[in-house]
Amino acid sequence: QVEQKISKLISKMSIEEKVGQMAQFTIDVLGKGGGVYASDEPFELDPAMLDTVFGKYKVGSILNTSNNRARTTEVWENTIKIIQGKALQETGIPVIYGIDAIHGVTYTAGATFFPQQIGMAATFNPELMEEGSRIAAYETRASNIPWNFSPILDLGRDPRWPRQWETFGEDPYLAKVMGLASVRGYQGDNTNHVDPNHVAVSLKHYMGYGVPYSGKDRTPAVITESDLREKHFEPFRAAVEAGALSIMVNSGIVNNVNGHANYRLLTEWLKEDLNFDGVIVTDWADVQNLLSRDHIAKDYKDAIRIAINAGIDMVMEPYNLRFCDALVQLVKEGEVSQKRIDDAVRRVLRLKFRLGLFDRPSWSRSEYPDLGSPQHEAIAKAAADESITLLKNEDNILPLKKGARFLVTGPNANSMRTLNGGWSYSWQGEKVEEFAQQYNTIFEALQKKFGETNVKYEPGVTYKMDGQYFEENPPEIHKAIAAATGVDYIVLCLGENSYCETPGNLDELSLSENQIQLALALQKTGKPVILVLNEGRPRIIREIEPGSKAIVQLYLPGNYGADALADILTGDVNPSGKLPYTYPKFEQGLITYDHKPCQNIGQKMEGVYDYGAETAVQYPFGFGLSYTTFEYTNLTIDKKSFVPGDTISVTVDVKNTGEMAGKESVMLFTNDLVASITPDVRRLRAFRKINLQPGEKKTVTLKVAANDLAFVDADGKWVLEAGNFKFQVGNLADKVTCTQTKIWDTPNR
Ligand code: IFM
Repeated sequence: QVEQKISKLISKMSIEEKVGQMAQFTIDVLGKGGGVYASDEPFELDPAMLDTVFGKYKVGSILNTSNNRARTTEVWENTIKIIQGKALQETGIPVIYGIDAIHGVTYTAGATFFPQQIGMAATFNPELMEEGSRIAAYETRASNIPWNFSPILDLGRDPRWPRQWETFGEDPYLAKVMGLASVRGYQGDNTNHVDPNHVAVSLKHYMGYGVPYSGKDRTPAVITESDLREKHFEPFRAAVEAGALSIMVNSGIVNNVNGHANYRLLTEWLKEDLNFDGVIVTDWADVQNLLSRDHIAKDYKDAIRIAINAGIDMVMEPYNLRFCDALVQLVKEGEVSQKRIDDAVRRVLRLKFRLGLFDRPSWSRSEYPDLGSPQHEAIAKAAADESITLLKNEDNILPLKKGARFLVTGPNANSMRTLNGGWSYSWQGEKVEEFAQQYNTIFEALQKKFGETNVKYEPGVTYKMDGQYFEENPPEIHKAIAAATGVDYIVLCLGENSYCETPGNLDELSLSENQIQLALALQKTGKPVILVLNEGRPRIIREIEPGSKAIVQLYLPGNYGADALADILTGDVNPSGKLPYTYPKFEQGLITYDHKPCQNIGQKMEGVYDYGAETAVQYPFGFGLSYTTFEYTNLTIDKKSFVPGDTISVTVDVKNTGEMAGKESVMLFTNDLVASITPDVRRLRAFRKINLQPGEKKTVTLKVAANDLAFVDADGKWVLEAGNFKFQVGNLADKVTCTQTKIWDTPNR
């Protein structure tokens, strides 16, 4: 019925109206002064621009919140109502509004902020991910926005890349499971009729964005055909099959083809192979980039032709209204077919119907009383608790006694901005201090936990808050050393200031020289140093690791991250996070856990799991300590051999052998022992997080579909080969044999 309604609408639309539906502009275009404001000036809609954008160009979509100048509920609601009213009056079709609310609706004061995706991945807890996304969806709707440019399903396989923290880490299976949970949480169960508490997702950035060869954002990637399909595509494929309603495209170039010009990946892989019937939207100004940055178009019109013909349905222009005229002209000249335009418009209208926008284009915050509620906060705090990853605990120095006296130091010790990272109240996260005053920094949370007089603060190193993202003020290390007198412990909070996208590009992965010098000087005082890492990606800590008694990885834990850290330091919460990436020791030694056997060139890594010989990494993927100990026994596999199509069931007993309750992520890794192309040393195939009281034992069952043990060969075909596999859970392993080879004729299993 909806398809019939869409057909009817399309049959009455002029080419100008159709093209308008394919355009997305930033709200700044609608503002007085042409979108150029002083940062504290309030946002005001310009009636002349409303006439141009909706009257003349019939535009169908708007994004952003004008860098927060339209922040107050009243101003914002009114802005949306005016926009929708004008669009309906001029086109009869509601606008679809989009936003980046990637760890909560980060543009609305009072909303709930979760750990960024990298921290959510470290929880290894898809239930928490789903619940967090459900809350974020509700709060995004409360902000009058039904479309979220989230989750990121790019793999974070290169820590040099400045968006690694926006991903679920390096592993395709973890990214797939967390991505599916996120899509369910955001969209709810019925993706044909998304209810008013849920939003449409935009999976991004399709695909291969996370592994630029140079490590720098939006620079080319080279990915083997096998890895492209087997690793990078898998999370997207699974999420599309689960009903994801839209996809945003990778700005960069993969294997010499620009993401926005890639007919094979956009049209063939998504629309033809997966029957994806949602919207493919560009990233910011990426059609223009085909011309000015990537030099594959003669002029702007040519760039539009290339992108639309490759399969783009909506162009995040975001400023240039000439887009509409140019696309109309291309259709008139026969360079873009009517059929392609109708297909794109159908997808955009379908999304609007699915979101119920024709029935109700705008609503009111008062209908969403739970925005920022204590229940929502509790889930965000639980997520922060479960994300924090204990990397070192020499002599069981942690947990600490309540009356302990501290120096809290380092550039990340007293900042909400560093806890939240980018896409928090503003693009680069620089507005966090202004809007997050009611939450605790690490210094404040420790004062509350350990008593005001027991906790001193002296930063030693500070970021230039108004400067470039990584700039630091001249260090004052001597002051921190002096402040360490009379304390029992030093809590040293190092890492990064907030950043996002290309401004986050780095020249070196090591922590800054100031921070390293601060750490070395404090370690020389002889006071035990507890190193707290508050960073979006693993910055190299090789020099300062030996002198640190304990190391705690916070990632970017959101507004409740400092409270979670305080609870972990006292032992009120037992840490249970596990690294969702390999923590490198050397910038030249970047590697992922699913590497080839010949890359095992380093020493043995001692850890909770015996991973065998590893390249010299600081900490392996999946690593994370607890205050208790777990014993794995009785690994049982329900079959000694299997054929394609089977399900293999693995059970193991896990016992808490320590004295504190604790959570453990039980992970199943497999290893294809011999294959026609060199297999990876290990692949994560299943995991489950359990909670065990002291002395308690649970039997955990992990299931693997035999077909999921297939790999993509050099010709791009899925193959499951007869042969032996090693199955490993904790320190236990067994062998299972596949007795039949299967090669798939279709592109996906
Ligand atoms: O969604 C984002 C994307 O991740 C990076 N470029 C801008 C988009 C819209 O804000």
